[in-house]
Amino acid sequence: MILPITTYTDEVLHQTAKPLKGVDGAVEELIASMFESMENASGIGLAAPQVGHSLRLLILDISCMKSFEDVAPMVVINPHILSVKGKNLMEEGCLSVPGVQGDVQRPSSITLKYRDRNFLEQTEEFSGMLARVLQHEIDHLSGTLFIDRMEKRDRRKIQKELNDIAEGNIEVDYPLARACSRDGGGTICM
Ligand code: NI
Repeated sequence: MILPITTYTDEVLHQTAKPLKGVDGAVEELIASMFESMENASGIGLAAPQVGHSLRLLILDISCMKSFEDVAPMVVINPHILSVKGKNLMEEGCLSVPGVQGDVQRPSSITLKYRDRNFLEQTEEFSGMLARVLQHEIDHLSGTLFIDRMEKRDRRKIQKELNDIAEGNIEVDYPLARACSRDGGGTICM
């Protein structure tokens, strides 16, 4: 089922999400709906609060991007970043902040403890695009948006776009969001 995407003025995007205790039928159904909603919106990552559920659950699929065709989709539950290394700057977009892009500095690699879709504990190191998308999505679970991590000067430049979203003055072609380029050349929305 395609679920509407919450936008940045929605309260659920500013809350701390609750951990999952396990994966039951309802959670499996939510995961399936999240994949459907993300694909429909041409996103490469989606966190549960973006579909109105304040749960520590996120999905990602970057296989549509050039040179990431072989990367398997991921389901990440109750993630916890154990350590980080390096840093880099990359332009980000977000399905919940349609029409806005901005440079965000983040660690370039992370060691992550999480539960997979079978609720089995995993500890893994991620770098590059996966590390970037994971950190963006994990931020959603603590009520942080990429615009909160932008330089103040850059943030001021997008204030008009943010006001437009707040007023509902936006055109999107998925339930409350915007399609984005997935060919690796354009903005990535997650
Ligand atoms: Ni996002």
